Amino acid sequence: MDSMLEKISGLTKSEQAECAKHMMLGGGTRGSPLLVRGNGVRVYDLDGKDYVDCTSQSWAMYLGHANEEINRVVAEHMQSLSHVHRGFDTLPRFYLARKLAQLAPGDLKRISFTVGGGPAIEAAMKIAYKNTQPSRDFICLYDSYHGTTLGMMSAAWISTRASGKLAGGSRFLGLTRPFVRVPNPCCFRCPLGLKREDCSLACVQMLRLTMERAIAGNAAGIIIEPIQASGGQIILPRGYLGAVRKVCDDFNVPPVFDEIQTYARTGRFFAAEYFGVTPDIIVLGKGLGAGLPIAPSLSRTSCVGLIRMPRNYKPLQTARLLKWRPRNRSNCSRTQDWRTRAAWASTWTLVLRGCSVNSLKLATFVWQACTSASSSCGTLNPRSCSTRMARQFGRRE
Ligand SMILES: Cc1ncc(COP(=O)(O)O)c(C=O)c1O
Repeated sequence: MDSMLEKISGLTKSEQAECAKHMMLGGGTRGSPLLVRGNGVRVYDLDGKDYVDCTSQSWAMYLGHANEEINRVVAEHMQSLSHVHRGFDTLPRFYLARKLAQLAPGDLKRISFTVGGGPAIEAAMKIAYKNTQPSRDFICLYDSYHGTTLGMMSAAWISTRASGKLAGGSRFLGLTRPFVRVPNPCCFRCPLGLKREDCSLACVQMLRLTMERAIAGNAAGIIIEPIQASGGQIILPRGYLGAVRKVCDDFNVPPVFDEIQTYARTGRFFAAEYFGVTPDIIVLGKGLGAGLPIAPSLSRTSCVGLIRMPRNYKPLQTARLLKWRPRNRSNCSRTQDWRTRAAWASTWTLVLRGCSVNSLKLATFVWQACTSASSSCGTLNPRSCSTRMARQFGRRE
């Protein structure tokens, strides 16, 4: 065993208590067992007691703990790369994007990755916002749960009195953004007090009225879990999502399905297929990564992304330009040459990577910043360059 792992697993009771003192606890229920190992559906605590993990670690471990096949592939891949910023491309990312696009219903073929469910829904909100001419309002359902980030917390029941009292999320209302809520189709305990047999989906009518009269402008999107998970595993009645899709089409509002819990759990890969309704965006997370932090959003082919790609985007060309280096930094006679090349490299890098916003202005600025740097043989400092650029032009799109 690795010596560090040996040290960790050999911590005495008093050392464990000493270490635990430094833990700043977030949400969740405390007092659960201290886990040291897992295997399939079972987990084992420090004393060797085993438990059937009915939590599946918040629906993340569909394929079980310590899944040998996954571990083998991850270990092999980690020999070459462990973390790659999304500004760079990798083959596994390409491959997974294509795989998801093949599995996805309808034309949800544009994939964007992030590392957690909450951030992925926030990414979906940005995409929805970017692709409509909306107001700032997003709609969600009563009893929904979409995460605990500052962006998503107020769309979750934990910010309301759904549990009979104001829950944890309500403590951060000053920091979170408001969502407009509409009644959920919980037919077992209908919030409108109706019975499914003769309700004519009054909750959908409420949604229509909300879009018509409660929102200034067009709603930016509606976020729905096809099965409301944390709210009580509420399976939306057949016909509901289709009727919502119709209302959305009437008002030109993109529906976003939060399938973080429903992915591969309804007998189909997507609950959207199970219900026979294709939204504009689907968000995944948790089980898709089988414990690894992978959370994509899948958008319609026609959706514009967050950064504009120039038509001739060529990542390899960008990489080659980035590799330009001066032959001899201390040689003053070559400084000008090095700066000129660097100026061109930076400019082309920016243009090729899609910073088309004021690209001419940027080009001029990069050129000036690089060629008129005050020190005679100083090295080009990309950080100070970009800080100055940021100051001069404000935020990049
Ligand atoms: C339906 C649903 N949406 C969003 C989230 C938030 O995901 P994460 O905790 O990865 O941010 C969860 C988490 O349990 C979830 O169940």
